[in-house]
Amino acid sequence: MDPPFFSGRVRRNQPQGPAYDDRWPGGLTQYLEFLRALLNSLAPLLAPHGVLALHLDHRATHWARLELDRLFGEKGFINEIIWAYRTGGGSRRHLGRKHDNILVYAAGPDYVFHVLREKSYLAHHYGFSNITIEHDERGPYTWVAMRDVWDIAALRGNQHEACGYPTQKPLALLSRLIECFTNPGDLVLDPCCGSGTALVAARALSRSAVGWDTSADAVAVAQKRLRGTGTAELAF
Ligand SMILES: C[S@@+](CC[C@H](N)C(=O)[O-])C[C@H]1O[C@@H](n2cnc3c(N)ncnc32)[C@H](O)[C@@H]1O
Repeated sequence: MDPPFFSGRVRRNQPQGPAYDDRWPGGLTQYLEFLRALLNSLAPLLAPHGVLALHLDHRATHWARLELDRLFGEKGFINEIIWAYRTGGGSRRHLGRKHDNILVYAAGPDYVFHVLREKSYLAHHYGFSNITIEHDERGPYTWVAMRDVWDIAALRGNQHEACGYPTQKPLALLSRLIECFTNPGDLVLDPCCGSGTALVAARALSRSAVGWDTSADAVAVAQKRLRGTGTAELAF
């Protein structure tokens, strides 16, 4: 679930391009009412083995964490994934804000989780004798269980997968999330689907996908992207 982030802006990449409105005349109170209503309506839909992953950034993630603790209980908390990226722009007043937060909560103790692996260039045996040290162009590495900081490049407009929708997320990010927390055949539901990235990733990984969005622009873009992915189960 990748809702508006409380940016206070109409999100649009080009003057004529698709857009959605992330302005909240009633300020944080209005935004949190929106988020709370969305979470409250979705939480009961989760399968017993399901997880809810909520993607936000520094503007509201701390509020959402409290709300999710209330909904799922503190034991429902699974991960806060930091999506780190490098984009242009910076500030003379603070460090570059170059990460988003993905809060993952589970409906119950039997949630799906697949251990993913990543390369570690510390190339250390960690006290285990059966660890193999391999080499690539960066140097020696070992395969270790993936951590919760994900360095995945943000989309650039000239990339093949970029479809012009504002705040479109990379397929690599959604694919990793879906691989980690769902099984093939599971249903991925995205209630703020935008350009449909989660749905496209879900289909490519043999999951079913349902998405919707209040922006007609988003639905049009997502439908176009989903053409040819065998999306009989899709509904908008
Ligand atoms: C951050 S964007 C999603 C981007 C998407 N993940 C992608 O990769 O393209 C947030 C989306 O939430 C939608 N939205 C805003 N309010 C909504 C609501 N009440 N219900 C459903 N969708 C909503 C916006 O139209 C926008 O497309």
